[in-house]
Amino acid sequence: MKIFNRKQALHTYLDELRSQGKTIGFVPTMGALHAGHLSLIEQAQQKADIIVCSIFVNPTQFNDKKDLENYPRPVEDDIKKLESIKCDLLFIPEVEEMYNSSDKWSMELDNLDNILEGKIRPGHYQGVTQIVKKLFDIIKPDFAFFGQKDYQQFMVISYMVKKLRIKVILVLCPIVREKDGLAMSSRNIYLSPQDRQNSLALFHALSKFRDLYKSKSISQLKTEITSFLKSAPGIEMEYFEIFNAKSFESATSKRPGSIIALVAAKVGSIRIIDNMIIEK
Ligand code: PAF
Repeated sequence: MKIFNRKQALHTYLDELRSQGKTIGFVPTMGALHAGHLSLIEQAQQKADIIVCSIFVNPTQFNDKKDLENYPRPVEDDIKKLESIKCDLLFIPEVEEMYNSSDKWSMELDNLDNILEGKIRPGHYQGVTQIVKKLFDIIKPDFAFFGQKDYQQFMVISYMVKKLRIKVILVLCPIVREKDGLAMSSRNIYLSPQDRQNSLALFHALSKFRDLYKSKSISQLKTEITSFLKSAPGIEMEYFEIFNAKSFESATSKRPGSIIALVAAKVGSIRIIDNMIIEK
């Protein structure tokens, strides 16, 4: 695997590959790679000739300084994992390579950045779009791969791509779960054994939602699953919402198309998010 720290060197290298007719698949990450990330790389390998993974803990998307400082950075392990699945290129820049003091970014995101995660983490999606746009400009991927666990992020990036007319095909990849159902996340390593057990309430709530879906109305589902989450031990529910998966607006009925249930909770000091899509 070739490793780049400099954007210009990567850009030039990729230009050469493109001129040979190769397609580029891109998997942006913040590192601390787990099987969910590796599944994105594997899906990218099915679709594109050359796979670029980036590892960059993006400061502008953290609204909590402590969270940024504590974010895991096991770089050597990450490199080994990427090599073991034959990722072609890794881009791992320093903060100064991606940002300078004159950087400004503010993008209208059609209110997508003011709801759910955006409401709890003000400025988060401004930071995400800022860095993803920078990375897209450097890498110019044909395809970019994102995990369904951050479904709202996928909706935000889809909106940006459409609005700025960026030529890239975005691919949404399924959530990868631990054997007992917990959605994989780089932050899971910080859960104490008891919190790890308590965190299963999120997957259980979504499974309950899926099982009851046919027999209950949207408002009955909302009430029942919310009360299940509120009474689950050791977790503090932040939201449970049922949205239209396409418009990403609150669903009032099952009619319009696919439905997504989204949940966020604090388990100990760690925030956990998860979701489940019911296809039409
Ligand atoms: O999903 C993530 O890991 C990050 O938000 C991303 C897309 C790499 C941007 O920093």
